[in-house]
Amino acid sequence: MSWLVRTVLFLVGVGLAPAVMWVSDIGMRTDRSDVVELAGAGPAPATGGPDRRGTVGIGGCLAGGCHGGAAAASLSGTVEVRWPSSATHWLAADPHTRAYAVLEGELAAQIMSRLGMRDESGRTIRATESARCLACHTNPALATDGPAQPTVRALREQGVSCESCHGNAGRWLHDHTGWTAATRTAGYAALDMVPLYDLGERAGACAGCHVGTPADPQRGYPVRDMNHDMIAAGHPRLNFDFADFQHRLPAHWNERDRTRDGSPPRDPGFETRVWLVGRVAHAEAACRLLADRADRTDYHSSPAPWPEFAEFSCVSCHHTHGGPFPTPNGESGRRAGTSEWQPIWPVTRPDELAHLSGLGPTSQVRDVARTITELQRTIQKTRPTPKATRDAAVEAAKMLGVLRAEVAAADGPRVQEAVKELLAAATTRKPARDLDRDLACQLFHGFTAAERARVGLGGKPEAAVFDRMRDRLVLPRGTLRFDVPAGIGIDLKSLSR
Ligand code: HEC
Ligand code: HEC
Ligand code: HEC
Ligand code: HEC
Repeated sequence: MSWLVRTVLFLVGVGLAPAVMWVSDIGMRTDRSDVVELAGAGPAPATGGPDRRGTVGIGGCLAGGCHGGAAAASLSGTVEVRWPSSATHWLAADPHTRAYAVLEGELAAQIMSRLGMRDESGRTIRATESARCLACHTNPALATDGPAQPTVRALREQGVSCESCHGNAGRWLHDHTGWTAATRTAGYAALDMVPLYDLGERAGACAGCHVGTPADPQRGYPVRDMNHDMIAAGHPRLNFDFADFQHRLPAHWNERDRTRDGSPPRDPGFETRVWLVGRVAHAEAACRLLADRADRTDYHSSPAPWPEFAEFSCVSCHHTHGGPFPTPNGESGRRAGTSEWQPIWPVTRPDELAHLSGLGPTSQVRDVARTITELQRTIQKTRPTPKATRDAAVEAAKMLGVLRAEVAAADGPRVQEAVKELLAAATTRKPARDLDRDLACQLFHGFTAAERARVGLGGKPEAAVFDRMRDRLVLPRGTLRFDVPAGIGIDLKSLSR
């Protein structure tokens, strides 16, 4: 209760009326016991059955002759990783190995207790037993298999391992060892291996856990949803930028264009494309999740909270009294008393999308801008309705999906040019006060990606630009911890990877 009282005091940004309405919703939420179970978990799996939807586990990849070869040289950075040591490299260096283990820790226990998730006998459910947590902290295909099957638990303990990204290997494990450059692409499609070589698909795969995504019954994945209830219970907010996160992952692969003959290495300007595709895929994932959240408010068995606070700019509600208002609202045309919807820069700023019109048919970029504007108009109402929001979000996701494919396929120099234009426009036209913290961080990620590309193309790092950007991100005194973006730790040294 003291939370509630304390946080109501933060609610200066939104007008009192919606705040009261929403807070009274929170009261209702806390009473609901049904938050324990998830909507849209797909067909019930054959619990502990031999199939587990084709999960093989890391053991299937680790053989010395497969991906378990020595990785000493790649780990020391003297050579690039090649496929025979991918698994060894991953085991030694990848943060995803810890994903399940963190569910056994103190913070996870606190989150579960604050969420009030209890079983029938009143015992707090453990995070390692909750599909809600397992959905992102292990292979999602194993999340709903029930609590205690030893074989399933052993697989879950591998964390977010190979199949969480590449897809369950049951169907392709044997065949993929015989693929050649000519048969590979068809092989992926026929046997349902996730085509991670396609940057847009890859960004979408990461966004599944780092942004969230609806259930995928075909793969047996439950919904992955980091909502405000979980954040308020202590889960870190998901700060995601595809380019930054991919760069921070110790790559267990050798970055090549696997769609072309001979799989040539990616061009050095690749990083800017990664960033831009990532922004579009991020916005697309956010729209799909929003549509799903709106849909689930109607499900009697497991409704989702509505409106979902995690959809909105955090600082529009959470900020201290007295200081300047933390989110500019002039540009989005948002009315006082409402919160700004996800600022996923530049994709959710329709004006700025115009800079992408060189990448695909202009009409397409205009369609994206139109659907985003419509979505913002719908959700930034004082009391958005689930039905209208869902429809607008589905439309926007569809258009963003088209744009994502367009950007992933556009030729390198054009992507570089578009990104340069975007960054220049955002820094010269806009005074710093127009940037809320989230936007400033996203701009910073963009700069970092462009800088990595520039260095890759033979340029020298520009320390002054970074210093200026970092200055913009310095947070005023008294700001809450969740305003600090994950990517703020990037420094110039990391650019020379
Ligand atoms: C939508 C995906 C998703 C869901 C659902 C999810 N998590 Fe997480 N969790 C993450 C990601 C991603 C991170 C890493 C955060 C980062 O660095 O961006 C994380 C981090 C954590 C951490 C580590 C925090 C730290 O300080 O290192 C804990 C503990 C945790 N989650 C517990 C839980 C629990 C308990 C649940 C269920 C109530 C849960 N998670 C549900 C995605 C998820
Ligand atoms: C977090 C997601 C993720 C996880 C977990 C993951 N991978 Fe990957 N893997 C990728 C991405 C992204 C690529 C790049 C895809 C491409 O270029 O086609 C990749 C590429 C590869 C490649 C191609 C290497 C090359 O250069 O030819 C192999 C082999 C591989 N992974 C094996 C594994 C194995 C084995 C595991 C588990 C030990 C694993 N991966 C876990 C994301 C992941
Ligand atoms: C099945 C869910 C899942 C998928 C898919 C996934 N991740 Fe993660 N990722 C997590 C979780 C959970 C954590 C947090 C692990 C921990 O707390 O140590 C994490 C952590 C990370 C971290 C470390 C974050 C930090 O703050 O230290 C990076 C970087 C990362 N992921 C990048 C990626 C990239 C890039 C992809 C796609 C190629 C990807 N992830 C796909 C679930 C996932
Ligand atoms: C519409 C207003 C609103 C928005 C937007 C909002 N919150 Fe909240 N937040 C609240 C209210 C009200 C509470 C207290 C009730 C509760 O815990 O659910 C709260 C509680 C919290 C708490 C717990 C605070 C404590 O003192 O224990 C955290 C952490 C939090 N929010 C983080 C976030 C983050 C991160 C975002 C953005 C992703 C966000 N909030 C967006 C209204 C909002």
